[in-house]
Amino acid sequence: MIERMQITRPDDFHLHLRDGKVLKETVAASARDFGRAIIMPNLHHPVTTAEQAAEYKSQIIEQIPRGSPFQPLMTLYLTDNTTSEIVRKAKAMGDVYALKFYPAGATTHSDFGVTALNNIFSTLETMIDSNLPLLVHGEVTDADIDIFDREKIFIDRHLIPLVERYPELNVVMEHITTQEAADFVASASDNVAATITPQHLLYNRNHMLVGGIKPHFYCLPILKRNIHQDALLKAATSGNPKFFLGTDSAPHAKQDKENSCGCAGCFSAFGAMAFYAEAFDSVDALEQLESFSSHFGADFYGLPRNTDTITLVRNRKDIPAFLPFGDMEVVPLKAGEQLHWSVEST
Ligand code: NCD
Ligand code: ZN
Repeated sequence: MIERMQITRPDDFHLHLRDGKVLKETVAASARDFGRAIIMPNLHHPVTTAEQAAEYKSQIIEQIPRGSPFQPLMTLYLTDNTTSEIVRKAKAMGDVYALKFYPAGATTHSDFGVTALNNIFSTLETMIDSNLPLLVHGEVTDADIDIFDREKIFIDRHLIPLVERYPELNVVMEHITTQEAADFVASASDNVAATITPQHLLYNRNHMLVGGIKPHFYCLPILKRNIHQDALLKAATSGNPKFFLGTDSAPHAKQDKENSCGCAGCFSAFGAMAFYAEAFDSVDALEQLESFSSHFGADFYGLPRNTDTITLVRNRKDIPAFLPFGDMEVVPLKAGEQLHWSVEST
């Protein structure tokens, strides 16, 4: 049994740090183990311009603990009004690594999202010219579509036509949750990749709904049935470079989750590498963890791989019931249970 593994320092290709007072804790949690992270732009006031991304980046940098190599890689939030000029400026300023497409109304703070993909065709063409990837929250929002089918239907209605129309566009389907998404990504061109979260590898909808509603497992896209969890474990551990690490760590204050209308999002950053190690170990695939966590994402984004390492050690550690979150508290993923691994920095 593997007890200890040294791997290239990982990167997180999908992370919500929020802003304001909580940044201190969210940045510290990610900066401990990760070298870089793609920072989601869905703040209350979404990050829609290069200038806003630069300002948000400087707020994040102020909170990076001394000695940490962490680098935030910024993104812009696409709206119906994102012009080609905004894209070109973002590329020229150099802080922005991707643009995020949220279908309007699909998830937390997505009210300003794109109402129809054909509203942004010329913007997508400029993204191709600027070599900036499109990050997709792949769910339809139609009221008549069951929440468990929203990803599958998004692929058929929107993603397949999009990649046919723009085969040169680099597309990351974020936080995939279904067999259909894993199959779509695996069979698409090399310009299409996907991130996978720890919660979708460790859990399925029974964990959220059997024996009472567990709001801390509620995230979007929502946890699916166990056959999809198995398909994601298979994709993540397959050694296929199209699948890489993106935690989608998305903290919300305890009272906003434990609420009659609770927010979507799981806070996983504090123990992310331990969660992934546990998931990979569950299917006896720890030897695939390094490439998924530390190589494939950097390669897809055209970034150099990190050169330093972290060491994962098998040992059990209690997960607190809550952690500080600005003036509030946040309940971490798997609160009250145990981590199966710890990370020792080297
Ligand atoms: C995210 C958030 O809270 O910002 N929530 C989530 O459930 N994943 C938004 C998102 O990535 O969909
Ligand atoms: Zn997210």
